Amino acid sequence: MKALVLYHSEEFGNTAKMAEAVAEGLREGGLEVDTHNTLDGHFPINEFAGNDCAAFGSPDYYSYVAGALKTFMDDHYIARVRKGVKNLQGKPYALFYSHGGGGRVVTAMTSLFKHVGTQVGEPVDSYLAPNAGVLEECRALGKELTEACK
Ligand SMILES: Cc1cc2nc3c(=O)[nH]c(=O)nc-3n(C[C@H](O)[C@H](O)[C@H](O)COP(=O)(O)O)c2cc1C
Repeated sequence: MKALVLYHSEEFGNTAKMAEAVAEGLREGGLEVDTHNTLDGHFPINEFAGNDCAAFGSPDYYSYVAGALKTFMDDHYIARVRKGVKNLQGKPYALFYSHGGGGRVVTAMTSLFKHVGTQVGEPVDSYLAPNAGVLEECRALGKELTEACK
C-alpha cells in the first residue's frame, strides 16, 4: 500500500516537521510513503492515482491554503472531469496545518480536499513550530490513516 504526504512549507519549516511526523506514523503502519513539498516543484497529478491514501498539509496563508496546494486540487478536477483520469478519488485522507495565530485555513482545506475521498480523523493544527505533543498527534494521525488505508 502506498501513501502520499503532500504539503507546502516555506517560511520556517513548521509544516514540513508535521509532514515528517505524519509520514513516520504511516511507515510504522507498514505503508510505503512518498513526501512532497510543493515548494520543491509541481506535483504531477497523474502520479496521485497510484496512491491508496494521502495526507495534505498547509500553512495558513491569508486564511486559505498555500497556492501550490490549490493548484494540485485544480489539476485534480481537470484530470478527473475533463481528461477522464481514473483513480483520483475514493481515497482516505488526513489533514494537518500550521498557522500564526489564526488557523481559519482549516475551513478551506476541509472544503477543497473532500473531492479526494473520505477524511480520516480530525485535522491536526500547530501554532507556528509543532511541539512534541503536536508531533505525536501527527504520528497518531498517520497511524489512523494507515488503518483506513488497509
Ligand atoms: C503570505 C503569508 C500569509 C499568512 N497568513 C496567515 C493567516 O492568515 N493566518 C495565520 O494564522 N497565519 C498566517 N501566516 C503565518 C503562517 O501560516 C505560519 O508562519 C506557518 O507556520 C508557516 O508554515 P511553514 O513554516 O511550514 O511555511 C501567513 C504567512 C505568510 C508567509
